[in-house]
Amino acid sequence: MPTIIGISGSLRKGSFNSALLRAAADLAPPELSITIASIADVPLYDADLEAESGIPEAVAALKEQIAAAQGLLLVTPEYNQSLPGVFKNAVDWLSRPAKDIPRVFGGKPVGVIGATPGPGGTRLAQTAWLPVFRALGLSPWFGKQLYVAVAGNVFDAQGSLVDAKVSGLLAAYLAGLSDVVKDATAR
Ligand SMILES: Cc1cc2nc3c(=O)[nH]c(=O)nc-3n(C[C@H](O)[C@H](O)[C@H](O)COP(=O)(O)O)c2cc1C
Repeated sequence: MPTIIGISGSLRKGSFNSALLRAAADLAPPELSITIASIADVPLYDADLEAESGIPEAVAALKEQIAAAQGLLLVTPEYNQSLPGVFKNAVDWLSRPAKDIPRVFGGKPVGVIGATPGPGGTRLAQTAWLPVFRALGLSPWFGKQLYVAVAGNVFDAQGSLVDAKVSGLLAAYLAGLSDVVKDATAR
């Protein structure tokens, strides 16, 4: 069964984006497995650290997880009308050394979704990821879009997805992503 790696760009315990990722793993169609990976142990990128000690263990492990998977799902918060630095920092580390980019990311389908307590649903953050996808040679999937706005009404206090409309949209998004991952894997 194709597996995709799902990553939330928030470190917050009560994160809406991590809650959305957990809901995605639950609502994925039976023919797609979503493995939740974490960026919590990724240090700040420092070229001196890389030169002296190489790729940190947490980064190397995540790179191999992505390399072995058939696709990616980024679940992005929106900070200052763009993507969060914490999330970008993790992806910057994952892109090192640059010679590994084709092996780790090259041609993989990637989906991006996100949640915010505000009204915009992470539209700007999702768009801000596009140049990064191009730099990594990823294959972004635009067949459906999922912008979760006013997230405080969509998840309960335990982080469970309680909005039937968003559940339906998420399931449809994942069904579409599953189809492209399946197609890409068959090629
Ligand atoms: C520095 C900062 C900037 C933010 N900027 C935006 C923004 O531009 N648009 C938005 O919808 N929410 C913005 N927010 C609110 C976040 O969407 C909110 O904190 C959200 O809960 C973060 O995602 P999480 O719940 O997964 O941690 C910002 C929050 C912070 C801390």
